[in-house]
Amino acid sequence: MKAPAWSTDDSAELYGIREWGHDYFDISRSGEVVVNLKDGTKTKSVSLASIVKGLRERGTQLPLLIRFGDLLRWRIDELNEGFASAIKEGKYQGVYRGVYPIKVNQQQEVIEEITRYGRKYHYGLEAGSKPELIAALSYMHDPEAYIVCNGYKDEEFIDLALYAQKMGLQVILVLEMPSELELILERCEKMGVRPTLGVRFRLSAESAGHWSGSGGDASMFGLNISQLMHVVDHLREKGMLDCLRMLHYHQGSQIPNIRAIRQAVTEAARVYVGLVQEGARMGILDLGGGLAISYDGLKGASSASSNYGTKEYCADIIEAITEVTAEAGVPHPDLITESGRAIVAYYSVLIINILDINRFEPREGISDVELDKDAPALLRNLYELRLDATKNATKTSRDRLQEIYNDAVYYRDKLRSEFNYGKVNLRERAHGEELYWDILTWVDGMREGCEHDGNQMDRLETIMTDFYYGNFSVFQSLPDLWAIDQIFPVMPIHRLKEKPTRNAVLSDITCDSDGKIDKFAHSHGINPSLPLHDPQIEKGHEYMLGIFLVGAYQETLGDLHNLLGDTNVVSVRVENGKVKYSRELEGDSVSEVLSYVEYDPKDMLTRFRNLAESAVISKRITATERREIMESFEAGLRGYTYFES
Ligand SMILES: Cc1ncc(COP(=O)(O)O)c(C=O)c1O
Repeated sequence: MKAPAWSTDDSAELYGIREWGHDYFDISRSGEVVVNLKDGTKTKSVSLASIVKGLRERGTQLPLLIRFGDLLRWRIDELNEGFASAIKEGKYQGVYRGVYPIKVNQQQEVIEEITRYGRKYHYGLEAGSKPELIAALSYMHDPEAYIVCNGYKDEEFIDLALYAQKMGLQVILVLEMPSELELILERCEKMGVRPTLGVRFRLSAESAGHWSGSGGDASMFGLNISQLMHVVDHLREKGMLDCLRMLHYHQGSQIPNIRAIRQAVTEAARVYVGLVQEGARMGILDLGGGLAISYDGLKGASSASSNYGTKEYCADIIEAITEVTAEAGVPHPDLITESGRAIVAYYSVLIINILDINRFEPREGISDVELDKDAPALLRNLYELRLDATKNATKTSRDRLQEIYNDAVYYRDKLRSEFNYGKVNLRERAHGEELYWDILTWVDGMREGCEHDGNQMDRLETIMTDFYYGNFSVFQSLPDLWAIDQIFPVMPIHRLKEKPTRNAVLSDITCDSDGKIDKFAHSHGINPSLPLHDPQIEKGHEYMLGIFLVGAYQETLGDLHNLLGDTNVVSVRVENGKVKYSRELEGDSVSEVLSYVEYDPKDMLTRFRNLAESAVISKRITATERREIMESFEAGLRGYTYFES
């Protein structure tokens, strides 16, 4: 039997799902993306398209954010077990007590799950603000887990932390600024509490990656070495050096290179040893966040990837600290990391549907349309260029292809400028532009077979793509894509037994030129467009894409651009072989987003009703039409902010 032209393995290879999917996501034999979830003691693969279908039947609209608690729990396991085995293998004397930084995904479900499931590891929380501390204190009641308080602290923040300590929780107040010390000491004296203090240190080691500014000499956060010594002296004077228990640093998020991590840990371990030698009690080293994940599926040290895995991360940290402390004869500290992204990124997937496409397709047969004998010279040049190219197609060298491309661009630009001077009419310009696109399409088809090295023709891929209009807002659901050019894996969640036949840039439904995705990880590289299937919307089919690894930072950083609000959300798990939907949260309604920007929906209704009534009085509409118009206005206010179907 003839082998099929395209298989699900080809799709897996194309979209890199087995690289970035980390065994959580894969493709089923029927060509759908599946997520592997826990079902009792077994694992069950569930198709994302079937999850969406079930919700669609229940009336839930796309876009939809699906959360998988199992993936969150598995990430907690991976990190904690990674440290447990590195500690065992390295005969390390300290323990690992990770904390989850609330800012990375503050949703109540995440915090509840981390405190509940993480209890077996005494997994704690990091709070960087008062609201985060209040969230932490409401959920984290494990006396063996840490609550690390970073960020700027006022009296209320400090008091809350000290009360929690009085009640038996392990709360660590971290000095981010030298000026915080006085206030903390004053509050401690007033409340009669001896605090557990940490100090955030500004390492000199810098790392690569987008957030490298969070570490290094020039970092905005933490104390430099002389400020650190001042704190030590001050605490010694007050007889409180025993309160200084922890050294903290944060190198930045998504550190792509393990060497940079090792370098920073080594420096931090030296500072730690120095503090012990100064007489501080110490006992805890907090390495902050930075554990990277692979968003692009490529195994290099790029900002969307990393050159190490969790196991290597844990082993290298243990080894580096052991080396430094052994040399100095200082006991191994207990370890904290504040990994956020690596814990929650996999947990959420955004599902969107394609609403429309704008195809890149030159007019069929345009090169055969004869020109008038008095056609402008530039139009004739384009026509002859097209004819000549096809005639000598077999002899086309790379240089000749570049030449044809250059000539086409030159003639097209010149034709446009002659149009502006009134020398070329509208129809002639249109004909010229169609010939231009036809030539470019031909060049694109030919260049595959001939080598070219980073010349201008590479731009063809960006200009000769379709626009797929997706039902989502980059600004609401993928703010890091817009703000810092972050890559997220994007791929169809079905039809993966079919070869994708089109190349597309993905536009959202905001009217903003930045509201698009035009950088994709696929085919083992980063590309300006994404191979997709013909969505066949005109035949009534739905074409759905998944945008993966959006669990970290995206939900609360998102904004209301164009007043597109929060999407619908659902949590999914499997029980006795059946998919269970829980925590179905309706996305923002139109009236909700309007009220966020200070409108009063009741007042809006009154204003609109007055307008409709004056239209009735002036006989522009009938009273019955007024009723219909008002019903439609009210339905609009109640409705979802995204495209409803
Ligand atoms: C102090 C601190 N700790 C932890 C994190 C979390 O980092 P990541 O998400 O890279 O693990 C951050 C975020 O940048 C941070 O500022």
